[in-house]
Amino acid sequence: MTARVALVTGGTGGIGTAICKRLHGAGYRVATNYRDEGRAREWQEHMRAAGCDVTLARGDVASAEQSEAMVRQVERDLGPVDILINNAGITRDTTFHRMRADQWREVIDTNLNSVFNVTRPVIEGMRERQWGRIVQISSINGQKGQYGQANYAAAKAGMHGFTISLAQENARFGITVNTVSPGYIGTDMVMAVPEAVREKIVAQIPTGRLGTPDEIAYAVAFFLPDEAAWITGANLSANGGQYMGW
Ligand SMILES: NC(=O)c1ccc[n+]([C@@H]2O[C@H](COP(=O)([O-])OP(=O)(O)OC[C@H]3O[C@@H](n4cnc5c(N)ncnc54)[C@H](OP(=O)(O)O)[C@@H]3O)[C@@H](O)[C@H]2O)c1
Repeated sequence: MTARVALVTGGTGGIGTAICKRLHGAGYRVATNYRDEGRAREWQEHMRAAGCDVTLARGDVASAEQSEAMVRQVERDLGPVDILINNAGITRDTTFHRMRADQWREVIDTNLNSVFNVTRPVIEGMRERQWGRIVQISSINGQKGQYGQANYAAAKAGMHGFTISLAQENARFGITVNTVSPGYIGTDMVMAVPEAVREKIVAQIPTGRLGTPDEIAYAVAFFLPDEAAWITGANLSANGGQYMGW
């Protein structure tokens, strides 16, 4: 059997890069999207130098048209998408009484509507082929809420509602749909938080440290093999013990 094809959105980011590396290492053929071609090609060269070959396809996941074109490009370059990791995401933090409509919309479009935009063009093929793996990268803050993140927490909680509905609709077609909810990981997204705030965050994590991107990639990879076929509709928390609810 030829290696399965995995599309990782936001693969050039902190967590996405670790997911691409781990999936490539596990023998999958890996693709990701880009918006800025120059930066993406540079990233691709850097990955190649580290022995990790990742195919690039242009696409803004906030756009349904671009997402469909991106999926079709990956299909042309590598073949049908067997595994989709909905990882692309942004923050536009501010308290709700100060939040502008564009800050709300950008986060919902990029973090939640994107999940529709990218999953819709792959789901029919997965159903026809009777095999698929879909993993959403949500967040601890979609589980517990977070001061200054009404937009982000709403989008991330919405991802899990999507997961558990899609899991039910597609279980009979050999498709599993799961969510990974990372806690605070030492990527640019978290390092952009002021140091004093970061120290307060770390103080709340029982392991006493931020997580690493590869610890999230490991959780994602757990859902992908044939042996994981019975695990669907799950939300896997990977947060150093910071939150132990649903
Ligand atoms: N870091 C954490 O502690 C943490 C914790 C919980 C959950 N998460 C979630 O994990 C995921 C990855 O986070 P990260 O820390 O790796 O973030 P990151 O380093 O900022 O990477 C984000 C990635 O998403 C891409 N992206 C953003 N908007 C996009 C759009 N409209 N269309 C296509 N691609 C887009 C970025 O591409 P560009 O370079 O083109 O912008 C980049 O590749 C996110 O969903 C985030 O919410 C992160």
